Amino acid sequence: APLTGVTTDRVVIVGAGLGALYAALDLAPRPVLMISPEPLGQGASSAWAQGGVAAAMDATDSAAAHAADTITAGAGTVDAGVAEMVTAHAREHILDLTDLGTPFDRGPDGGYVMSREAAHSVARVVRVKGDQAGKQIMQTLIAAVRATPSVQVLEGTLAVKLETSGDTVTGVWIERSDGTTDPVLIKAPAILLAGGGSGGLFAHTTNPPRIRGQVIGMAARAGARIADPEFVQFHPTAIDAGEDPLPLATEALRGEGAILVNKDGERFMPAIHPDGELAPRDIVARAIFRQSMAGLRPALDTRKVLGAQVLTKYPTVAEACARAGIDPVHDTIPVAAAAHYHMGGVDTDAQGRATLGHLWVCGEASSTGLHGANRLASNGLLEALVYARTCARDISAHTPAVEDAPLVDIAFPGGGAPLDAASVSALRNCMTKYVGVLRTHEGLEEALSQIARIEADNADNVTFCNMTATATLIAAAALMRCESRGGHFRSDFPEADPDQAERTHLFLSDALIV
Ligand code: SIN
Repeated sequence: APLTGVTTDRVVIVGAGLGALYAALDLAPRPVLMISPEPLGQGASSAWAQGGVAAAMDATDSAAAHAADTITAGAGTVDAGVAEMVTAHAREHILDLTDLGTPFDRGPDGGYVMSREAAHSVARVVRVKGDQAGKQIMQTLIAAVRATPSVQVLEGTLAVKLETSGDTVTGVWIERSDGTTDPVLIKAPAILLAGGGSGGLFAHTTNPPRIRGQVIGMAARAGARIADPEFVQFHPTAIDAGEDPLPLATEALRGEGAILVNKDGERFMPAIHPDGELAPRDIVARAIFRQSMAGLRPALDTRKVLGAQVLTKYPTVAEACARAGIDPVHDTIPVAAAAHYHMGGVDTDAQGRATLGHLWVCGEASSTGLHGANRLASNGLLEALVYARTCARDISAHTPAVEDAPLVDIAFPGGGAPLDAASVSALRNCMTKYVGVLRTHEGLEEALSQIARIEADNADNVTFCNMTATATLIAAAALMRCESRGGHFRSDFPEADPDQAERTHLFLSDALIV
């Protein structure tokens, strides 16, 4: 009979994006329970990733060069050991994804087609059907998970709270993701958090609607240490056509030679950085943001370099343009900077372990030290792959072996309450206004007091409080970092300060007293 609370021998994976699916496959045949807020494949940022996976695949490139670019892009805060480890494993994961059936783009000689993206010294991004890497990799992994009987997927459920005993995580409370039930506790031997980042805490984002820092906030509220929360990456070329979230126009377009212009037809990037449109992402994002603020309506111009080929080579971008009534063959594409990736997250060690026992984290929810202050393009999917496998192997090594476990059957008690839409909007507007591309001391103080007020109005809603916990961590760490570095830019401290090059490590309790 269905129970209202369960103890399981399954490893519980919170989330259903790339890291979650890949870890579940690696753990097989060990039984896994996956907490998926939506039907598999929907709602995860991974499926929306356009560019691809960065990997040194041929003899003209090397993992060392990839690591060096990662370290340079990260603006002085990348953990070099992590960068070396992750880039050294990149090739192996591309080959494994290929074996699983991912249809990577191949050239006439059978070699992988590599895209060029900003701050990579060479073309180093493997792609699928132009701009569909995330979607196609996810479809491949979903098919594999569906064919793996050891993985039980609870679709439509959301993790809201970690259960702890001392410094050890013993379980996770879940509820129906539409907010119509009260939570139920699942006690489990190991929990892997793979539930994505925080982009949707901002009013302008490229992330799917449900990705709002809930997993990071949940871990922080349970006492896990957080790293680098102030480092949020804003993508320069979200398509600015009134949709929420904003569709992405992949950086690979600029890699092909597309340029950025404003309403006066001025190409503004060459005057700002010698690499022009392929300058590091934070520099291009700030330039776009300033153009937008000045009413100069920045836009991406693919016409000369791609012409009508944009429609066939970049079908996802073409579809987003069509939805917005933009004809990229004849017109420029209006763009805006939008929250895209959270470099910060739950602090993890080389095995993907959080600071609480029995808790592992991979993908965007984690902060491994790979990305520093500014993630190198297409290193996000790569990090998720590498740490998903690392976590899976470490979980297996430290969790008693089980060969089989009954399916988890839960009857959720009625109750719960959906998120208050007006409060969500207020929080997102506050984050974009005060904690966005350009930050100041006064603005961040205002943000912290507004977040606290909005949180107090929603104190009974645990999901909302998970979101505000992450918002608080981002704003507090941004207030404490009195310099500019990578994705974190303080108008009142516009330069990097070598004395502040250390990564940030803090607990939620530290953020609450700022
Ligand atoms: C893009 O395709 O521009 C995004 C790539 C990334 O964020 O890594």
